[in-house]
Amino acid sequence: MRDSGITGRYVEATFDSFAVATKEQQAALEVCRAFTGPAFHADQGNGLWLIGPPGTGKSHLGAAMVGDVINRHTKRAYIASARQIVRRLRATWRRDASENEEEVLEAFGLPALLVLDEVGLGFGTEGEQIQLLDVIDLRYTLKRPTVLLSNLNAPLLRTALGDRAFDRLREGARTIVCNWPSHRGARLSTE
Ligand SMILES: Nc1ncnc2c1ncn2[C@@H]1O[C@H](COP(=O)(O)OP(=O)(O)OP(=O)(O)O)[C@@H](O)[C@H]1O
Ligand SMILES: [Mg+2]
Repeated sequence: MRDSGITGRYVEATFDSFAVATKEQQAALEVCRAFTGPAFHADQGNGLWLIGPPGTGKSHLGAAMVGDVINRHTKRAYIASARQIVRRLRATWRRDASENEEEVLEAFGLPALLVLDEVGLGFGTEGEQIQLLDVIDLRYTLKRPTVLLSNLNAPLLRTALGDRAFDRLREGARTIVCNWPSHRGARLSTE
């Protein structure tokens, strides 16, 4: 779990700690639970997209899936924002870099599960799209499942990711629309 990308408040984020108030939340929870369920495989080649506004628990569910793969399947799993991946790839170009580009590609490309968080946020130059495409293409080639979390709808995601990355991630992916009130707001009103 120490090398999972799960930090801070998300250490507590599990399927069991995801509070369910509506049918839609229940359905989203079930789909996420099933995704890393008993049949989970590092080469299952599918994907899952959680799309919705801020505070709806996308990162929570993403962290829960990563935790499940690590704890139950004892396989490597990682959650990272698209920007974190681009930043770590870019850091390899420095003269005093501690890891090379190939190592970073494999760190994100090989795990049994990658949860790609905050896709499309503050990112999208052609150079950045190509760097992320290298990771996505490696996972696609190896049929590694990838979960995508974003505030953007499909047309905006296509623009942010570029056609080639979008197309690979979309193959075999199921989309869950997380369209319920922000948990962040909910908590404030009861404090
Ligand atoms: N249904 C829920 N039950 C319990 N905690 C929740 C639930 N939904 C969200 N949370 C908690 O609320 C906080 C915000 O949720 P989270 O960060 O997962 O939202 P998000 O959808 O990723 O938002 P953003 O799009 O802004 O990244 C987190 O601490 C998360 O654990
Ligand atoms: Mg989030």
